[in-house]
Amino acid sequence: MISAISVNDLSLSIGGAKILDGITLSVNKNETLGIIGPNGAGKTSLFNLLSGVRQPTRGQIFINDLDVTSLKPYERAKVGLARTFQTSSIFANLSCLENVRIAAQAANGKSMNLTKNAYKFTDVVAHAHECLAKVGLSPRAMQVAGSLSHGDKRRLEIAIVLASKSEIVLLDEPMAGMSVENVPELVEIIRSLKTEHNKTVLIVEHHLEVILGLADRIAVLNYGELLVCDTPQNVINNPVVQSAYIGEAL
Ligand SMILES: Nc1ncnc2c1ncn2[C@@H]1O[C@H](COP(=O)(O)OP(=O)(O)OP(=O)(O)O)[C@@H](O)[C@H]1O
Ligand SMILES: [Mg+2]
Repeated sequence: MISAISVNDLSLSIGGAKILDGITLSVNKNETLGIIGPNGAGKTSLFNLLSGVRQPTRGQIFINDLDVTSLKPYERAKVGLARTFQTSSIFANLSCLENVRIAAQAANGKSMNLTKNAYKFTDVVAHAHECLAKVGLSPRAMQVAGSLSHGDKRRLEIAIVLASKSEIVLLDEPMAGMSVENVPELVEIIRSLKTEHNKTVLIVEHHLEVILGLADRIAVLNYGELLVCDTPQNVINNPVVQSAYIGEAL
């Protein structure tokens, strides 16, 4: 099976500290990979390397078997990688529709002149509306994104991912700050990335029940090392994982 994204011996040191050490991992197309591990384990650092925000000290990154290790973030986006950040990365002063339209316009290879003639691209605007509808944000299309609730901002980020047509989606703690009653709905939206939109999804999440419900496999990081990558059942039964999580609910 061709992997959507894979890493070989991926390592990152900062100022002599080993942040990630020798991570070798392969994610299949249309797979949802959960990534868990204690605070400071290196989960966000792994995403920073995958998206090209940081360069690894050692090792390689492949997208669709293409070595992207030396590519810049925008170049990786062009070969199919999208990311939502642990802290929200939307344009706060633009409306929801404009936020999504920009992603849709870029994906269509249309002019990136963001104001002039933008609404002449009726197909792009229609696609942006579709993406907003899929995450339940149609009623807020004209609302300024900065004024959205936290949960609606996460929905908007997913609409942006849908509009971008990226094959691979990196989600870093999408449930963070969500009120408990909104979690199930966001879980279903994330599930639809795989089931309806054929995306490959890598999701970091502290809510273990969310990961167990969504992931095909789970990778466990601890002190920058990959402890195990296996099915959810095998991971929760793994004694090494259990000892890494001593004192935490698993
Ligand atoms: N720019 C940096 N300079 C020095 N150390 C850093 C830097 N960024 C991250 N680290 C360290 O790298 C380690 C891994 O951090 P990272 O943010 O990747 O962890 P994480 O698994 O995402 O944690 P959390 O669950 O809290 O989000 C931590 O010890 C952190 O202090
Ligand atoms: Mg993190």
